[in-house]
Amino acid sequence: MSNRLIIAIDGPSASGKGTLARRLAAHFGLPHLDTGLLYRAVGLKSHQTGRTPIETAANLQTSDLANPELRTDSAGQQASKVAAIPEVRDKLLNLQRKFAHQPSGAVLDGRDIGTVICPDAPVKLFVTASPEARAERRYRELRERGGNTIKPRVLAEMAERDRRDSERAAAPLVAAPDAFLLDTSDMDADAAFAAALAFIERKGFRSSGP
Ligand code: CDP
Repeated sequence: MSNRLIIAIDGPSASGKGTLARRLAAHFGLPHLDTGLLYRAVGLKSHQTGRTPIETAANLQTSDLANPELRTDSAGQQASKVAAIPEVRDKLLNLQRKFAHQPSGAVLDGRDIGTVICPDAPVKLFVTASPEARAERRYRELRERGGNTIKPRVLAEMAERDRRDSERAAAPLVAAPDAFLLDTSDMDADAAFAAALAFIERKGFRSSGP
């Protein structure tokens, strides 16, 4: 196995994988790709332009990832619909593999990083939390951004997206057999980071920074 550090992080919505990915990337000085943004951008752009999701995925530009609208819950729902199309996933595969295999190493988070994009990653984390804990976090996040929503609706939409992501035939959300399972239901971001870091250090990887 090479000692290049590729950290593959998968898990459902609001499990804490994005925060964990950002913190690990900063700690190890690695570039980070939030792969959910790719599917969000395909969903939103194909909806806005009327082009097919496959065509949109084939012509996706880096500038498409900068749109603040991508963070909304409706963009998340659109994303999980286009993400079920195998040809859309195929079009986004090379870009993700190339990012993962750059010489510096990398951190990627998504739904199929440890299973499809980087089955060879030396570090795989599968981050989960109870549906209630995840809905509570998403609700607070939406409120902080000034959104007007109610908790039962957040829980219902999350359940719908979980179902679509786990039951689809193309790259469903599952933990890789060699992934470290991290249940963050009763953990804050610091505790999740400490647990993930301990696992990575046990594998022999250390930050070369100060
Ligand atoms: O931030 P959150 O976890 O809510 O969503 P996201 O990571 O931005 O992903 C949005 C949607 O894109 C997910 O519900 C998945 O359907 C899809 N996705 C995927 O299929 N594969 C990935 N590697 C990343 C996201």
